[in-house]
Amino acid sequence: MRKIVITRKLPAEAIDALQDNYQVAMWDSEEASAPREWIIEQSKEADALLTMLSDKIDAELLQGASRLKVVANLAVGFDNIDIQAATERGIAVCNTPDVLTETTADLTFALLMGTARRIGEAAQFVKEGKWKSWSPLLLAGGDIYGKTIGIYGMGSIGEAVARRAKGFNMDILYHNRSRKTEAENQLGASYVEFDELLSSSDFIVCLAPLTPETKGAFNAESFSKMKSSAYFINAARGPIVDEDALLKALKEGEIAGAGLDVFTYEPISHDHPLLSLPNVLALPHIGSSSVETRMTMMELCAENIENVLNGKNPKTLVNKEWLK
Ligand code: DGY
Repeated sequence: MRKIVITRKLPAEAIDALQDNYQVAMWDSEEASAPREWIIEQSKEADALLTMLSDKIDAELLQGASRLKVVANLAVGFDNIDIQAATERGIAVCNTPDVLTETTADLTFALLMGTARRIGEAAQFVKEGKWKSWSPLLLAGGDIYGKTIGIYGMGSIGEAVARRAKGFNMDILYHNRSRKTEAENQLGASYVEFDELLSSSDFIVCLAPLTPETKGAFNAESFSKMKSSAYFINAARGPIVDEDALLKALKEGEIAGAGLDVFTYEPISHDHPLLSLPNVLALPHIGSSSVETRMTMMELCAENIENVLNGKNPKTLVNKEWLK
């Protein structure tokens, strides 16, 4: 019987169908990630892997997985997987685009609003019994409506965020590898160079994939070019940002605040200096985390695995060279 390895405990309904036809080895914790040694050991006999974005699927691991046909990653991002190594071994790599677009855009916009209007601080203020009276500038934040949003990475999620921004009458700027004429025509989004995005936006929203080109794109120089009233939002990947530079920019008032769903090292340590700043709203990488969307993502992973194991093309293939 062919074997599928799942690196995190998933709800029974997500794997029931797979269990009828395959031997399924699933890590038995929902909270704790599977140790690398467990994944390596299980992969040796695996025909398919269903992985999390927190699992490093590198050449070393793939080398020992001689039967492996497909890696289905429960995320749209796939920077945790060595795509070249997988392709060289004839392994299909699949992700979960599209099904999470609107959910992730919702979270990104919520993070933007929560950061500007100090929602985290305000909720904590009430719960800690600090609310003694109404006062004119109590927890006063920044406005959103009518401001300028600068989207770095205008893929599907970037466009979905732009649609939300349009509803808030925002001016929409974007920077991307390629021009997005549809977004320009339909949403009135304007393409600008990176420097202009930094200097003209009230909100910079990072939604680009992590690649060698985007790694460290937001560094000391970038933050120094932003408005002192600007907010930086990251719902993409932590390493796109130099966290030391961000910390310095926030401390020295180079920017007004940051909303972060992702970090260089995840989970970020609770005593990380960024988390001690009142103007940082931090979330535990929950961009696509609605129950409906996560269940749909699991179904898509299962479908991609079954397709590949049954000689069909997967629905959402990352390494298109695999088809050749
Ligand atoms: C992804 O799917 O890559 C997102 O980061 C999940 O929130």
